[in-house]
Amino acid sequence: MRTNLETEVAGLKLRNPTMLSAGILGLSGLTLRTVWEAGAGAVVTKSLGFKARKGYANPTIVNVGCGYINSMGLPNPGAGKFAEEIKIAKSRGEIVIIASVYGATPEEFVKVARIVETSGADAVELNLSCPSVEGVGMEIGQYPYLVENIVKTVKKAVEIPVFTKLTPNISDIKVITRAAADAGSDGVVAINTVRAIAIDVETGRPILANKLGGLSGPAIKPIALRCVYEASQSVSIPVIGCGGITCWQDAVEFLLAGASAVQIGSAVAYRGLGVFKEVTGGLEKYLRRKGFGSVGEVVGLSHKY
Ligand code: DHB
Repeated sequence: MRTNLETEVAGLKLRNPTMLSAGILGLSGLTLRTVWEAGAGAVVTKSLGFKARKGYANPTIVNVGCGYINSMGLPNPGAGKFAEEIKIAKSRGEIVIIASVYGATPEEFVKVARIVETSGADAVELNLSCPSVEGVGMEIGQYPYLVENIVKTVKKAVEIPVFTKLTPNISDIKVITRAAADAGSDGVVAINTVRAIAIDVETGRPILANKLGGLSGPAIKPIALRCVYEASQSVSIPVIGCGGITCWQDAVEFLLAGASAVQIGSAVAYRGLGVFKEVTGGLEKYLRRKGFGSVGEVVGLSHKY
């Protein structure tokens, strides 16, 4: 049987179901192309806002052994400036780019989404992890009515698929998943980072300048997997898995839990860009060994039991 890794997620044709996740290596057209050339099926940009942001002072990231905690403060050059990078990446050959966007209001999300659509992005991913009220530190993505409002407003403004990235920092992820789906989101990405902290025992101080940050990497894999499992049972739109995927077995586990594709971020730092070929190679062999003709045949299979 011919095994094919090609798949489609919300109308987006992918050569394989792996994606570079937001926040890592997505800060220029050339780095996006490098990751594409390393074998990713799509690449997600660093989160873009309407205006440029410097981000927080260092340290912004700490390796805690089981993963990374980061709090960068959404540093980015602004969507208008970054549009040039998307154009550069697009002009040098085939590539599938998903632009991660954020804003403080639905209107700000729309402005950014329109800019990235015009510059050639194939889809947008809504990063709802930014504070809804400056300084209060609560994430927009924790409130179903805010999520609904943002998704609805962005959906009206752009033609490309809109993915909603879900925060795990909430008691029931199904509520937010349904809010996104009901508002017309073309898919959800589960999950963003898990709120966490690291403290230096000698100085007694929190290590990150911003004190709290988001945990990614192997430590959050079982949490992300549970979120994908619950999200995919609660809606019919595709779920993209994200959180601690490091090897092909992790990718298969996420497909079985209900993910149609997987995003890889921290593992690029742990294992290098070869991780995309490792995952797609292992996945292809698994499909052949198990007699599956396509990725889609595996998606959500664990729900049968
Ligand atoms: C940042 C943004 C995120 O969405 C996240 O999960 C972690 C960190 C940031 O830029 O600070």
